[in-house]
Amino acid sequence: MTRILIVGTGRMAYQLGHAIVHAGLDLVGVAGRNAEARERLAHFLDRRALDLSKPLPQADLILLAVSDDAIREVAAMLPKGSAVVAHTAGAVGMDLLAGHAHHGVLWPIQSLGHGQPMDLRDVPMVVDAGDDRARQVLLTVANKLSEVVLELPLEQRQRVHLAAVLTSNLTVWLVREGQRLLREQKLPTSLLTPLWRATAQRVATFGPEQALTGPARRGDRHTMAHHLELLQHDEALRPVYALLSEQIMKAFANEHP
Ligand SMILES: NC(=O)c1ccc[n+]([C@@H]2O[C@H](COP(=O)([O-])OP(=O)(O)OC[C@H]3O[C@@H](n4cnc5c(N)ncnc54)[C@H](OP(=O)(O)O)[C@@H]3O)[C@@H](O)[C@H]2O)c1
Repeated sequence: MTRILIVGTGRMAYQLGHAIVHAGLDLVGVAGRNAEARERLAHFLDRRALDLSKPLPQADLILLAVSDDAIREVAAMLPKGSAVVAHTAGAVGMDLLAGHAHHGVLWPIQSLGHGQPMDLRDVPMVVDAGDDRARQVLLTVANKLSEVVLELPLEQRQRVHLAAVLTSNLTVWLVREGQRLLREQKLPTSLLTPLWRATAQRVATFGPEQALTGPARRGDRHTMAHHLELLQHDEALRPVYALLSEQIMKAFANEHP
């Protein structure tokens, strides 16, 4: 069985580590630079905690779950050998791992955090590989973790990553700002929870074309003008509201001539 070693102790390491153990794969340990973090994660996964600055045990696949900016440095610390070395970042090329003969990428398209371990079986796993051996090892592991596995070269991965940022990160920022407006009125942020839950569900079920409602789609200019008035002192949100509303109106202009 493929022996897997995870390097990193953050969000990706936590969720991917749990998914690897849960899938019955052979996780030999988690390596990190921070003693407390690696001990905590190793305890949670019931695997060995490994000091990144010391020699690491043999593995067939080393998964780098470290910050994008640290990938090159951490990869350079690893001994050159027969192991496949792969990072887990969507928008980063494989060239950072070029010092290792067998290298690649294993990128789950999901927003991963601490807390409740996630079921990754329906999360798309994107694989890219520098050679046949890396490709075979990564595809085998990806297929054990998920039912949705696809191979994408860097250029497409970067576009998928951009789409994922729009879909998740930027949308969540808007939710954060919506909650801020409620807090300013001393109202509970939970007032909007049924709305965003139902919105996400409708988008997933019917697609954005049907799920999108609101003043911009309807072309209700008075309501939008009033919203912009309410935001007149909000330098961050006012231009965002104006720009997004304009784009929505353009996209659905044929519905309100
Ligand atoms: N979280 C997500 O939603 C998600 C989704 C898809 C892909 N990814 C990818 O997963 C990778 C890890 O992201 P993350 O969300 O897990 O980040 P994170 O929670 O911030 O964890 C980053 C990890 O990298 C370690 N690290 C940073 N610099 C290091 C260095 N110079 N040497 C050794 N270790 C170092 C940190 O160690 P310390 O604790 O010691 O700082 C920490 O264990 C990234 O490539 C990211 O693009 C993340």
